[in-house]
Amino acid sequence: MFPEYRPRRMRQNPVFRALVRETTLSADHLIYPLFVKGGKKVKEEISSMPGVFRISVDMLAAEAKECMELGINSVILFGLPDKKDPMGSQAHAKDGIIQRAVRELKNKAPGMNVITDVCLCEYTDHGHCGVIINKQVDNDSTLEILAKTALSHVEAGADMVAPSDMMDGRVAEIRGILDENNHHNIPIMSYAVKYASAFYGPFREAADGAPQFGDRCGYQMDPANVREAFREATLDLEEGADILMVKPAVAYLDIISKLRDEFDLPIAAYHVSGEYAMIKAAAANGWIDGDKVMHETLLSIRRAGADIILTYSAKDCARYLRGLCS
Ligand code: PBG
Repeated sequence: MFPEYRPRRMRQNPVFRALVRETTLSADHLIYPLFVKGGKKVKEEISSMPGVFRISVDMLAAEAKECMELGINSVILFGLPDKKDPMGSQAHAKDGIIQRAVRELKNKAPGMNVITDVCLCEYTDHGHCGVIINKQVDNDSTLEILAKTALSHVEAGADMVAPSDMMDGRVAEIRGILDENNHHNIPIMSYAVKYASAFYGPFREAADGAPQFGDRCGYQMDPANVREAFREATLDLEEGADILMVKPAVAYLDIISKLRDEFDLPIAAYHVSGEYAMIKAAAANGWIDGDKVMHETLLSIRRAGADIILTYSAKDCARYLRGLCS
């Protein structure tokens, strides 16, 4: 009898649908980014990222506990230093903003898995991710500073470091300094495939890290390239990365999917600030159901092959998942 096969049979009720569901999304997969700044009792909303705040160190533990109650056990920290200079020296200061934040979290919310972003753009007065020599971002002199920064985060208690600068050779440099200092067990989540993307706009406002001249096209990847993503991922794998990240996520689902097929390392994807802001803006206008679109978006990132998703909507998503319709 026509039609012989009826796919709707397996969609007829929530139990069947759950039995055959191919992709899962849970709070276990999510990493929540936090912006940390100096001062006391600061919690200021970022205008282009509704629901995301810059918070002071003393407020971090409460935030972490809220996350853990929702089942989110990993955060990644971004710092807004009190002062900047050409070399980004506050990035590796013992009493720098991230070092203080990590110590606070490990003391007051010890169950939280604390990941740190390793980069210089929030710490340099010119806003580039490395040191400037002859008007260029100098690769090799930046490596040493990045490695020192990663080590200082780990010495403060960080559980994992995530270099996002896109200098060549930084994973090897960071692995080297961590191993020399007996931190063999600290993994590196490399922003291996990071594109020079306009989707980072709101983040740069949030973290005050916009370049003061030029752009990042000399170190971040050209959005037109696929083969280069394999090369970047291969290099980072050979240099000792434990997790490979693709960034941004939604506009680069093809890259996530291809890396998933080619590499056996865990893949992370960063659902970046602009991707988040667009959904929030449309939802605020009443044009879409923000929670549902956010959930469908994160699910698509998982379906493409990401094990881990970094997202500003982690808390909202965890709440939504608790009351999810099926
Ligand atoms: C720092 C860094 C950036 C992001 C994460 N780490 C900004 C950039 O590279 O310009 C972007 C994150 C986001 O947009 O959510 N290098």
